[in-house]
Amino acid sequence: MEGSAAIRPEQYGIEGEQALRKSIGFFKSLEKEGDAYICRGNKGNAAIVFLTDDVFRIKIFQGTHADLSTTPGVLPQVSEAEVKTQENDAQFIFVTSTIRLIIDKSNCGFLIEDLKAQTIAQQNPVSWDARGQLSATYEMPKESHFYGLGEKTGFLDKRGERYTNWNTDVYAPHVPEIEALYQSIPLLIHMHGEHSYGLFLDNPGRSDFDMRSSETTFSISCATGAYDIYFINGPRLKDVVSRYTVLTGRIDLPPKWAIGYHQSRYSYMNQQEVLELARSFRAKKIPCDVIYLDIHYMDEYRVFTFDPVRFPDPEGMMAELKSLGMRIIPIVDPGVKKDPKYKAYQEGVRDNHFVKKLEGDIVLGEVWPGISAFPDFTEDRTSEWWGDLHRYYTELGIQGIWNDMNEPALFNESKTMDLDAMHGNNGKPRTHEELHNLYGMLMSKATYEGLSRHLDGQRPFVLTRAGYSGIQRYAAVWTGDNRSFWEHMAMAMPMVLNMGLSGIPFAGPDIGGFAHHASGELLVRWTQMGAFFPYCRNHSAIGTVRQEPWSFGDKAEEIVRDYIGLRYRFMPYLYNLFREAATTGLPIMRPLLLEYPSDPKVTNLCDQFLLGKDLLIAPVYRPDTDHRSVYLPAGTWIDYWTGEVREGGRTILAHAPLEIMPMYVRAGAILAEGPLAQSADDVSEEPVTFHVYGAAASTGFESAYTLYEDDGVSFDYRQGSYSELSLNVVGGLKTVELNWSYDAANGFKQARKQLRFSFRRASFAASQVEGLQRLTAEELAAGAEGWLHNPSTDELLIQVADRAEGGKLVITI
Ligand code: GLC
Repeated sequence: MEGSAAIRPEQYGIEGEQALRKSIGFFKSLEKEGDAYICRGNKGNAAIVFLTDDVFRIKIFQGTHADLSTTPGVLPQVSEAEVKTQENDAQFIFVTSTIRLIIDKSNCGFLIEDLKAQTIAQQNPVSWDARGQLSATYEMPKESHFYGLGEKTGFLDKRGERYTNWNTDVYAPHVPEIEALYQSIPLLIHMHGEHSYGLFLDNPGRSDFDMRSSETTFSISCATGAYDIYFINGPRLKDVVSRYTVLTGRIDLPPKWAIGYHQSRYSYMNQQEVLELARSFRAKKIPCDVIYLDIHYMDEYRVFTFDPVRFPDPEGMMAELKSLGMRIIPIVDPGVKKDPKYKAYQEGVRDNHFVKKLEGDIVLGEVWPGISAFPDFTEDRTSEWWGDLHRYYTELGIQGIWNDMNEPALFNESKTMDLDAMHGNNGKPRTHEELHNLYGMLMSKATYEGLSRHLDGQRPFVLTRAGYSGIQRYAAVWTGDNRSFWEHMAMAMPMVLNMGLSGIPFAGPDIGGFAHHASGELLVRWTQMGAFFPYCRNHSAIGTVRQEPWSFGDKAEEIVRDYIGLRYRFMPYLYNLFREAATTGLPIMRPLLLEYPSDPKVTNLCDQFLLGKDLLIAPVYRPDTDHRSVYLPAGTWIDYWTGEVREGGRTILAHAPLEIMPMYVRAGAILAEGPLAQSADDVSEEPVTFHVYGAAASTGFESAYTLYEDDGVSFDYRQGSYSELSLNVVGGLKTVELNWSYDAANGFKQARKQLRFSFRRASFAASQVEGLQRLTAEELAAGAEGWLHNPSTDELLIQVADRAEGGKLVITI
């Protein structure tokens, strides 16, 4: 029999809810307070701060003074804008060198125009409901496209979708109707016509971005906290990404080994299994840099311990792994087992590090170790304590940590911590409801900073599942518990592409899929694709079929080996892209849209992508498929495998038997390939080869590339210990000229002795290279200077000594 609960009032909503919505009213005055312009309204105020001529912040607030502190997602900024203000009866107007912000005094709506009076963005008045939940709508022209929002399901273009930002542990399959996953990046990029701009809501509570419910407007709303929004001008998409990453930060250059291939499983159950795995990689000559230890390495899932039976000799294990050139990354979850005999728990209780209820009780919840307590990472002193606990790992030679379950995930109905848990927040207490989305990022920040303190100048690596805007400063991100579904392989592309547009360039899915069972074909196709994702790890769940590279027979193993090898050969190119991401904020893996924004065919193209701007990757993501269509954007493209020249601006049908993933190189590109190494630390004396694409002897060919290199492990590059080799190629009718030089100011030298330059399909058969001899393959391999022509691939390969002063070559045809 039903009780009164059957007629609970909240099922019926609030009558006339709309009528209860309040808005800021009209604006009465404009004042300047420090860097902020304060617009005072009759029911609320807005503080406006121009950070640059293209980025400004509007925060709606009540009361006399605006609190202009930010979440830790935003880096401290110095206002550099030059703003002129004007006022008339109806408007306050702010003009910079690029935009005009016009605020409607009657309702606080705002319009942003460029200086030619073209509308960029239009926000209707912010309003709030009876519970103070704020929202605003924005005009949405017919030609609108939407990007960003970090880790979300669905396609690249988010038009017609609605998403929630609330970090959630979603083990249920990641399907398009799931509106919230592990990460929350409240950045929406709106592209219409020639204009792209970003709206970043710096609010770590629950927020919603709705591009679905109306045909003409989209809305942004937040359940708690302030409407604190940053407008980020374009007009180019690249401008938005790079400006957003000035605001929230960019990656630090990771250690090179973190860009290698990683192998994981929930779990490698004991030390013996880990060592056998490492030996198998080396015996089978499948390159690999890292093996992960999932939760079974711990003593009853207590973080900062090893299980004494399964892992009786961590030091011995680490020593052998080191000799094999392999690293270990153990998992560290935030839940600290409630156990009065356990040091981390004792210290946490004693020194008041755990999240508590207002009434003073420690918040306890169930996770892998059973009932656990959770560090309050909003307190700097707790983060420092937690970071220092990682000495336990660094003293063993561990340099990377995997943060999981840090949404935080709890085994209860809400899947997370009680909303009324309190965070100390360095003296500004807030409920968990208000700060939820920060928890994971602050855990990774504590971990990154702790590792940095204890690694003697070596670069740390942190992998995280949860995060908020700015997470890129501390950790790479993997996309959580996907499944061994072809659909999930396909979905990884738009997901990671949008993460790249949202400031997170170092990301990737579990290759092969985590839950469910992989097949040989799926693993092959997924590894082909994953080899070109910024983060590259094969991981699978307990109880699923094994998916190490050799799990599905010889043919699958061979192809997987080749593609992982290809990633290692591309390491110089890839590492350069990480350097670019660290200095410009631009993604490593890019939607075609980023490089070809005015091509209408690419607004939602997300089953192929660019690595940097020059290499187009078109994975096969369906079973039993040996052809796929590939869209080549304008320009000339060269088939990576065959050297065939293809004109762009069209869709082609690519032949893709199992061993081939279609790849194309932009004509005019120079790709740096290194030797095949078994790990990124493998410092080889082998030459680097610069492949010059499309330098057919035509007039007007010109190409340039700069190769950045450093030791790959330390922070010495920050003191100038790196090298930059600039290469310039100019093609004339009868000659091709190459010039290269090192930037003399930089103090790093690679171990290699030679450089190679390769030209393919340029009909160089009868060419001469001024001052150099024709060589045999043996002479070339022995390191002689000279050149050879391989008729079967039509490749002209030139080898020269790698001299500090650089050099110059002229090829005559
Ligand atoms: C979570 C993680 C997964 C991990 C498992 C056990 O499901 O997402 O990667 O293997 O926990 O730690």
